[in-house]
Amino acid sequence: MKKLIAGNWKMNGSVELACAVAAKLQENPSAGDNADILICPPSIYVSLIDSNVLLGAQDCSEHESGAYTGEISPSMIKDAGCSYVILGHSERRQYHGESSDLVARKASAANKSGLISIVCIGETLEQREAGRAQEVVGEQLAQSLPEGASSQNTVVAYEPVWAIGTGKTANSADVAEMHSFIRSELDGKVAGYNDVRILYGGSMKPANARELLATPNVDGGLIGGASLDAQQFIEIALAAGDN
Ligand code: PGA
Repeated sequence: MKKLIAGNWKMNGSVELACAVAAKLQENPSAGDNADILICPPSIYVSLIDSNVLLGAQDCSEHESGAYTGEISPSMIKDAGCSYVILGHSERRQYHGESSDLVARKASAANKSGLISIVCIGETLEQREAGRAQEVVGEQLAQSLPEGASSQNTVVAYEPVWAIGTGKTANSADVAEMHSFIRSELDGKVAGYNDVRILYGGSMKPANARELLATPNVDGGLIGGASLDAQQFIEIALAAGDN
């Protein structure tokens, strides 16, 4: 399966960075030969990334339109040229109180508008140390995926919370075990479960990307910090092509 290399800028970046990244990607068209490259900047910058990469948002409303000040609907995101939306990132679960049920409703609305939902799940360090990582991830997965989720409209991102932005990466044996568990949990629940891309996220960078992306059932990466540096992001995309 072709890998998906997705950059999650979070609430970072500027007009200058958006233009610099777009220029860098134009200069390196071969980076996209062996991997699909996706950038999810703050939505207001989407139209500035004038490149042949895929674009996505970092969240969407569960509603289609109406009096929801500050919200952006899936169809608006689609209209602006995006094909993906990240949903249920641990920062939204933690700082915005998003539940898995809400994530499922947002994913359902996103899929109905023709967007591909990147549904994020992952355990905290406390949960891992208590031996509950699989239980937590399995529960989040079951509750966050909407009815009708399929390999065509859904990507799953496994992001252990303790590895996000910390420089700590899960070792490839633990990643392999969790990704194989996630694949088996998708079996019977999601159409085309074997073709659902399962991304790893959490301090992925050029130095560890090759090994992580070569791990069984790792079909790409969701990259935060390193996606803010166009050169590092391209190196990760090139590493995906080596697998
Ligand atoms: P990180 O973030 O690469 O900076 O750890 C990943 C993410 O939160 O998606």
